[in-house]
Amino acid sequence: MNDNLFDKSIQERLLNKAFEIKIAPSLKCLVDRIIFLITDPNSSINDIYKILYQDPALSAKILSIANSAYYNRGYPIYDLHQALMNIGLEETKNVILCLTLMNGLKDKLKFKDLFRFWNHSLFVATSARVLTEKTLDGNPQIAYIGALLHDIGKIVFYSEIEDYDRQINDLISNEKEKCTVENEIFGIDHQEIGYIIAKKWKLPDAITAMIKYHHNFEFSNEKEQMLVKNTMIADNFFYCKETNGYPEKLILLNEKNNIDSELEKNMELLNIITYAK
Ligand SMILES: [Fe+2]
Ligand SMILES: [Fe+2]
Repeated sequence: MNDNLFDKSIQERLLNKAFEIKIAPSLKCLVDRIIFLITDPNSSINDIYKILYQDPALSAKILSIANSAYYNRGYPIYDLHQALMNIGLEETKNVILCLTLMNGLKDKLKFKDLFRFWNHSLFVATSARVLTEKTLDGNPQIAYIGALLHDIGKIVFYSEIEDYDRQINDLISNEKEKCTVENEIFGIDHQEIGYIIAKKWKLPDAITAMIKYHHNFEFSNEKEQMLVKNTMIADNFFYCKETNGYPEKLILLNEKNNIDSELEKNMELLNIITYAK
């Protein structure tokens, strides 16, 4: 953290918000359990089913997704277990995490900020998963979930700082990166705020590292470093579609069409569920 020019009261407000932010306003135990299962690579469809059927709203949304054009097998699905089977374990985990977060965030953020946050997070998540699959650098599902959450700290900035994006983007330059600017203006950056949230939500170490170090992968532990690096490259790929010193971006350039169509699918599914009620 920077001790200089920023307004201490803003830094304090951001820290307080990070400590108090909830994934969803109700059903805290259930949400904690869901997040635990989603981030556990060993959990099964049955584990997910047992916890999910206790949440009627989430179950209804999963059924709705299973009956959407992307998963429909030509017959209607009324049964939650069948819906999970049709969507598949990993897709189910991803969709549930998105829905749980969307549910928790939709009242905290303006639509344009929420849309921008999700568009970026889903793109980076898909790119990090593809990169991890191709380079065999770790568990692709963990890469997806960690990358989906990599900028979770920004949620606090979006909800507390009017025109956060504009304030930051006006000051970013070739020499000055986003985290440096955040530290200068607010006394803390979105990696550090994200780390507080990750600790509070008891996320696994690898995902916590991806949140805390995705702009400085070299500071992460050796064990998690490749996953963190892939998140950083995927994040960079969102803004710049040239290799600019990262040969791994050639892999992403080759997969760009697949990444774009998966992003389109997920954005559509989230919109169907969240905004077309
Ligand atoms: Fe970031
Ligand atoms: Fe990012």
